[in-house]
Amino acid sequence: MPMKQLHLPVLLAEVIHYLTPRDGGVYVDGNLGLGGHTEAILMASNPGGRVVGFDWDEQALELARIHLAKYSGRVEFVRRNFAEVKDVLNELGIARVDGLLLDLGLSSLQLGVSCGRGFSFQGSEPLDMRMDVRGGETAADLLNHASEEELADIFYYYGDERQARRIAAHVAGFRKEQPLLTTDQLVKVVEEAVPPRFRPKKIHVATKVFQALRIAVNHELDNLEKILACASEIVKPQGRICIISFHSLEDRLVKRAFRDNSALKMVTSRAVVANEDEVKRNPRSRSARLRVASVREQ
Ligand SMILES: C[S@@+](CC[C@H](N)C(=O)[O-])C[C@H]1O[C@@H](n2cnc3c(N)ncnc32)[C@H](O)[C@@H]1O
Repeated sequence: MPMKQLHLPVLLAEVIHYLTPRDGGVYVDGNLGLGGHTEAILMASNPGGRVVGFDWDEQALELARIHLAKYSGRVEFVRRNFAEVKDVLNELGIARVDGLLLDLGLSSLQLGVSCGRGFSFQGSEPLDMRMDVRGGETAADLLNHASEEELADIFYYYGDERQARRIAAHVAGFRKEQPLLTTDQLVKVVEEAVPPRFRPKKIHVATKVFQALRIAVNHELDNLEKILACASEIVKPQGRICIISFHSLEDRLVKRAFRDNSALKMVTSRAVVANEDEVKRNPRSRSARLRVASVREQ
């Protein structure tokens, strides 16, 4: 399948406009995915611009390698958590870069039913949800071993799920009988927990629970906080930091970090969102919010 159908990069023109890649510049793409944004950065910084591209998901990194093969020598493929960006740049002998891009969350590939890791509530897959399968707890580990209160907190804080307590109680009931191991079992538990009158109208009843578990399993907010904390140290003065987030918890962290860090200057006063055309072409872009800051001269 052509790469474009696997994952369409969101807010692509806007990212290039704000990042202003130039020949000879070095950029960090913290979420390489299938390489859509990185390819645009490489084209805009032709012939000498370089990208250090992070993805902790081996499948994504493999596809990015194929997609970006013709730019070989200009991309460093790094299978690490972007939270470790400072260490990685150190190891590569790069003191500071000209710009940083984050395009948070999941790629369409991961969201697809054939990914096999249970990110989607359609089909029946093991409840794994780790983007990096090399270690850490799976969603099934969490669901079967966390206390009922911890689960309710995860559903409430990371999913903004009003029925969090009810759902956590049903999970606790289910796992007394048998371990909760697959996505279809979890969907059934949520459906049983939430009576029709309390169900959301526009999204599936299990959407928020799946989102919450994914955020918890991958420590998504911790990772974002870590890279935000060092962003002004790894990007050169006047370099740009562009962050695309997909839910309000992330967007709030980005907004606060840009506002409260005296080494940063906000470039976009409001979040940049996708226009109607893009939303029609790529429904995933509907919830994307891009914020941009630049690093102040010392
Ligand atoms: C939305 S996709 C990026 C798509 C990419 N911009 C493109 O145009 O193809 C997000 C990617 O970031 C990766 N990812 C998420 N959190 C990460 C982290 N903390 N460290 C490294 N990679 C991460 C995911 O595995 C996924 O492939």
